[in-house]
Amino acid sequence: MLSRLLHFHLPNPRLYRSPRFSRTATMSTVAPSLSEITSKPGDRSNLIPFSKRLREGRALAQDVWSIFNAANLPPTCINLGQGYMNFAPPDWVKEAATEALGSVAANHYSHPKGRIRLRNAIKQFYGPKFDRDLDVESEILVTSGANEGQYAVFTAFLEEGDEVIMFEPYFDQYLPSVTFNGGRPVFVPLHPAQNTAGKASSNDWSIDFEQLRRAITPKTKMIMVNTPHNPVGKVFTRQELEGIAALAEEFNLLVMADEVYDCLVFDDKEHIRIATLPGMWDRTVTVMSAGKAFACTGWRVGYLIGPPSIIFPTLAATTRIVFCSNSPLQEAAAAGLEQAVERKFFETQTAEYAERREILCEAFDALGLTYYVPDGTYFVLLDISGVQWPEDYQFPSSLDGRGRDFRAAWFIAETVGVSTIPVSEFYSAEHAVIGERFIRFAFCKDADTLRTAAERIKDLKKYLKL
Ligand SMILES: Cc1ncc(COP(=O)(O)O)c(C=O)c1O
Repeated sequence: MLSRLLHFHLPNPRLYRSPRFSRTATMSTVAPSLSEITSKPGDRSNLIPFSKRLREGRALAQDVWSIFNAANLPPTCINLGQGYMNFAPPDWVKEAATEALGSVAANHYSHPKGRIRLRNAIKQFYGPKFDRDLDVESEILVTSGANEGQYAVFTAFLEEGDEVIMFEPYFDQYLPSVTFNGGRPVFVPLHPAQNTAGKASSNDWSIDFEQLRRAITPKTKMIMVNTPHNPVGKVFTRQELEGIAALAEEFNLLVMADEVYDCLVFDDKEHIRIATLPGMWDRTVTVMSAGKAFACTGWRVGYLIGPPSIIFPTLAATTRIVFCSNSPLQEAAAAGLEQAVERKFFETQTAEYAERREILCEAFDALGLTYYVPDGTYFVLLDISGVQWPEDYQFPSSLDGRGRDFRAAWFIAETVGVSTIPVSEFYSAEHAVIGERFIRFAFCKDADTLRTAAERIKDLKKYLKL
């Protein structure tokens, strides 16, 4: 994630925390003098104050990814924290990448809309799923990963102070993407069912529609709908999506359907696209990711599908942000979509992920802790309320002021050697208490790695409250 990387490369964050760099100071139109911005005479290491927008959206805060970075954890720790695979993309997709690199055209700029081969492949693959004859010129846009596509939509549609509703837990990148574009995030928590014990379902997390309605103000411009949902694994039901659609229609909201895990839905559960509900096509942009579909998260290829009224302004924005997405890997993503049906690729991949999910879930069953079997995605949430560490256990100062889930995740990583992500990171301060009960495991790892992790997880038994 860009935010994770930036943390290491930006000027000393201590400087921006200095009282001299208070909100009023940075917003002042008078440029600070050299003596005001340097702490010691002759210090020229941070001459130019950086923009206040980095402070909003937690862009400079020490985030969960840097705290739970492999370098801070035991070297033998198995990383089930970050959501990227420890296996390669399929050979036939990689071969298409190699072939593209061997050509001339695919090494150069593409059209900002995306390469025509990929747009055609998206049309063929997704047209039937949207029940539309998608227009490759005006209804499909290739972006540099789903992230950049989402950023471009915010750039295209947000006015200063516009509010964007997001369900908590939310995908962390939403926050800076909204605030960098002048928007204001408004958080509405999903609610885990009360009194669940042992194996529960990701669908036990529900929307309080009254709370959602109360969150809407005259400033609300957009609502994010992430299904299948990271990190809950929930696949939103038709009824839930109809409820959201009705509010979007009533209050004239733009819907950003984040469906990057659309190809990872288990147990024949139906993945419903909110864009296909009556009247919703005109106000919905759907976001997908080749990275998730073909195990190539670093390739940074994503795509948007929506009506021309949303795609054209977003095209204008993305053209000015990146101009175009990387060309050879667009060709490879196109090959992936072109051949996926014939190869039954997603069916096979989903079955493999279902097996991986099972390996982890069996370990949780053995512990008897509450966890939520995901209907989609490659994440599973474990309720760590029952995990108890010794009272005198020493935690690093980076966890000071963080939730109990941070300590649980740290303790588990150090004690049993499996790293995870504390879920309160994906909440506003107001609702963080809900997230503090959970840690997230990513099972986008090969089965052997997961089996080893599962054995280690069972060792937690010693640390459960009686
Ligand atoms: C819910 C969600 N949306 C968007 C993204 C970003 O996808 P991409 O890697 O294609 O930018 C992710 C990646 O983790 C995600 O989990």
